[in-house]
Amino acid sequence: MCGIVGYTGPKQASRILVEGLKRLEYRGYDSAGIAVREDDEAGGSQKPIVLIKKQGKIAELRKAVPKDMAGHAGIGHTRWATHGAVNDINAHPHLDASGKVAIVHNGIIENYMSLKEMLEKKGVVFISETDSEVIAHLVAYLYRGDLEAAVKAALGQLKGTYGIAVMHADEPGRIVGARNGSPLVVGIGDGEMLLASDVTAMLAHTKRVVYLNDGEVVSITPADFRISDLSDQAIDPKIDLVTWELGAIEKEGFSCYMEKEIFEQPESIERALSGRMDMEYGTVKFGGLNLSKKELLAIQRVRVIAAGTSWHAGLVGCHLFESIARLPAVSELASELRYRNPVVEPETLYFAVSQSGETADTLYAMREIQRRGGSVLGICNVVGSTIARESDGGVYVHSGPEIAVASTKAFTSQLAAFYLVTLAMARMHDMSHHEGVRFLENLKAVPELVRKTLGLRDHIQKIAKKYAHAKDFLFLGRGILYPIAMEGALKLKEISYIHAEGYAAGEIKHGPIALISPDTPSIFLVPNDHLREKTITSMKEIKARGGPVVAIAEEGDELVASIADDYIPVPKCDARFQPFTMVIPVQLFAYFCALELGRDVDQPRNLAKSVTVE
Ligand code: M6R
Repeated sequence: MCGIVGYTGPKQASRILVEGLKRLEYRGYDSAGIAVREDDEAGGSQKPIVLIKKQGKIAELRKAVPKDMAGHAGIGHTRWATHGAVNDINAHPHLDASGKVAIVHNGIIENYMSLKEMLEKKGVVFISETDSEVIAHLVAYLYRGDLEAAVKAALGQLKGTYGIAVMHADEPGRIVGARNGSPLVVGIGDGEMLLASDVTAMLAHTKRVVYLNDGEVVSITPADFRISDLSDQAIDPKIDLVTWELGAIEKEGFSCYMEKEIFEQPESIERALSGRMDMEYGTVKFGGLNLSKKELLAIQRVRVIAAGTSWHAGLVGCHLFESIARLPAVSELASELRYRNPVVEPETLYFAVSQSGETADTLYAMREIQRRGGSVLGICNVVGSTIARESDGGVYVHSGPEIAVASTKAFTSQLAAFYLVTLAMARMHDMSHHEGVRFLENLKAVPELVRKTLGLRDHIQKIAKKYAHAKDFLFLGRGILYPIAMEGALKLKEISYIHAEGYAAGEIKHGPIALISPDTPSIFLVPNDHLREKTITSMKEIKARGGPVVAIAEEGDELVASIADDYIPVPKCDARFQPFTMVIPVQLFAYFCALELGRDVDQPRNLAKSVTVE
């Protein structure tokens, strides 16, 4: 969703801001803008803060920014509209009436109407339809020569969520940022400082960062930064070192990020497993669970809270917990759980699963569980993200930055984390040492299995070309592959805009089979266990009604090959690990369909990478 970047230092601010916004493009946005405090000696301009905003892509903004734009401090923003239409005026930054205060804002100001009325009575004229503009006018109204103090006074009157960056023309080189519910990171450079909603925007300049907490305000100048709370108590900063390399956020020869991320999975899964498998004892080692063996042993049930693809990973995880660790487990949509007045029972272990670690639904559901005394472990990718920091412990999945809106490599790394946690729990209950070692051997083989499956690329592309113009698809699976069917349908709809449903294969006769016609292809995920024959029966039912069938099944499955119109043979493996070999073809299928239809694969319409509003 919206992104923030701020820069103060010796370099040309406009160039750094536009480049930073480009790095934030993946989050999803509909307009972008920058505000730069021109240098005094540059003279020329009418107003000391120059504002450039454009509806549409960053490329539009880039065209509008003069190459020689002067100024060494500025703030920029990518907007994902909530209040008001998508247009240049509603885009951020917003200025106050004098043009001296510029702000960018992520989040939602709930009481903006009453503040707006109060300011209008004092003669302030608003020009946008946004909730955010009120911040600029309020700061200007409260300004008495000290920007940090004015921002704090304004924040005292705001209700809602925010990550903000603010400048004042009379304080060149200073930017004030604040956070409440919307991430903000300080980047500490050499004679320069940055602010951003996401470290990817500053990775080209520094890896030394401070993640702000809710209620904290930071004031940066090229040489220094100071963090304090709203009552002006100074806060000791905890400086972290970002481990991501700049290359990880480049396309590195791939046509888009999604393609790159799909093909990175052998390595990203390896990273998720690395250093955690204890082959000697047939179990796993985790650093950050923050639970003693006794506490783990006392766990009687598991609940997973998540959204979208992370929820699908949770569904696989729950299948594993129940079938392997023999613990009852349920994966819940965070947006549903939070408002259901959930019962939080003792001896229950909660997992909040989130690639970004910033998804509002998951975050608020987690806080609700914690408020009721529940313990929540995070399974997150982004280090230092809010869920990672506020959870009671957890596991980082180490996929590296995931830029494409459609989640792929984070999903398989989340799966890897669930396999590890399941093994840890199973080994505490009734799994033997010998079985534990075998389980780990299977897990260790997963990156290579995934690598082999990726070799099906050309075959899958041909099949995708054949079906890409269909209007509806069914993805069908059973058991541990049912969530993979749902994931396949989600991938296809979000990047190709083709309607698709993920269904339990055994359920189609209870309704969805009415949809079957020669125009509605079904993608079957055929397991190699006791559910294989039942899945084949469903395939035959579809074929009997004239529905085209694409079957993803283990290599050498002649029966499946003879029934299906198209067959995608995945490498053989233990049925418990088939989610890994089955998800690759559905990711590739969605990707190639989107390509065939000429879609914007990395930034599909209406979607944002990190959904930070409810
Ligand atoms: O960052 P999160 O994992 O919490 O995100 C949850 C969903 O918004 C996300 O998985 C979404 O469904 C993706 N676009 C799926 O590809």
